[in-house]
Amino acid sequence: MKNIILVGFMGVGKGSVAREIIKISDYMSIDTDDLIESMENRTVKKIFEESGEEYFRNLEKKVSLWLQNSVTNTLISTGGGFYKQKNLKDIGVVVFLNSPFDKILKRIKSHPNASKKLKKRPLLNDLKRAKELYKERLPEYTAVADIVIDVTDKSALECAKELLLKVKTHA
Ligand code: S3P
Repeated sequence: MKNIILVGFMGVGKGSVAREIIKISDYMSIDTDDLIESMENRTVKKIFEESGEEYFRNLEKKVSLWLQNSVTNTLISTGGGFYKQKNLKDIGVVVFLNSPFDKILKRIKSHPNASKKLKKRPLLNDLKRAKELYKERLPEYTAVADIVIDVTDKSALECAKELLLKVKTHA
């Protein structure tokens, strides 16, 4: 089993798809934001507030090097900006979960904990800026991806099944 790295914009459903994959396969999953939060013993939101984005990006870099050197057979769910790591492709098969910005927003807003989901993501505070960020990143996610899954109007389970099939047949 190769590592699978899930990339994609905030709120697209990387965590939900990861949870379905571990139910229906032998994969176990880790999440780069969770690793960073436990390294720092504070939330991503607090890290942004207290230490700034650049500090956070350095922690992502540290995590990416550790993943490359020490992690195998694992599903790795990542924060929305993690795809910029230079060694991404050395970690495993890169899977981009894609959906239009409006659908992502709708998905977040329909969640019972919507306001919490929005608040915990510093880069979603300003929706106009978030949409610009999405536009800027879309071609970059696509360029770095080995596999693209369009998650729009699909359940997390459907996405998980499609993903496992595509990873299996990926050279
Ligand atoms: C970020 C996405 C967040 C988190 C941080 C920065 C980004 O993760 O890593 O707030 O740059 O897109 P999610 O994609 O899980 O929201």
